[in-house]
Amino acid sequence: MIDIHCHILPNIDDGSKDTDKSLEQLKIMEAGGIERVYLTSHYFRGHYQYSREEYDAKLAALQGSARNAGLGLDLQSGFEVFVQPGIITDIQEKNLCLSNSKYLLIESELNGLPGDFYSNVYPMLKAGYKPILAHAERYVSIMKKPSRARDLVDKNLYIQTNAGALLGYYGEKVRQTAWVILENGWSHFVASDDHVRGDYVALFEAHRMISERIDEHTANLLCKDFPAAIGNDDKIPYTYVYVQRPKGKRRKGILESIFG
Ligand SMILES: [Fe+2]
Repeated sequence: MIDIHCHILPNIDDGSKDTDKSLEQLKIMEAGGIERVYLTSHYFRGHYQYSREEYDAKLAALQGSARNAGLGLDLQSGFEVFVQPGIITDIQEKNLCLSNSKYLLIESELNGLPGDFYSNVYPMLKAGYKPILAHAERYVSIMKKPSRARDLVDKNLYIQTNAGALLGYYGEKVRQTAWVILENGWSHFVASDDHVRGDYVALFEAHRMISERIDEHTANLLCKDFPAAIGNDDKIPYTYVYVQRPKGKRRKGILESIFG
């Protein structure tokens, strides 16, 4: 499995505060079957703002500590970029993508996507980036009307769902929204968004539940195959679920009625 969203890189945002704790978490992840993880620290102008050099130095330090601790999972660079007017400049100057891909993890205000959200995302699309909206199920405007997630997919955004949301860690409304998004095929990734505040938010458990409730193929797409495509910057389809009409009673044609 590949985790494309977590805050395990220490001392850069509101995630891990301690290298040892990060290493503990990475050990649990590796033991559970995570092979690659993108260390997506918040990037938020005026709050979590730093140079690319500072991020890279912290990443290299953690990669070194992980190697020394005997860990084999692949630690990749990444950011969770807060959408603000003009943020495209920071994205271009600092390359705030997921590793060497054009995929870009973005977030916005949880109390509702603001009116200028898409107008701030549009320059990213125009510049060839592939934005992924983090934890879509947690935005109040999407909770009120989950089909808004589909509207965003129609506008060439990818959607990421938090594993913890599927398990009810953020409350019932978020849990229901997350499942509606998944069951309709509007989500492309399930990730942990782990902040090293307790147990690793069980991506493994989410994979098991999706296998049970939807099917194993979908669980693999969301936790393995689509995340793996980011590694080669391969194109991920916006639509991957083809709904079949339920087989019901079919009206007979006139000739069929007469001749059987
Ligand atoms: Fe996050």
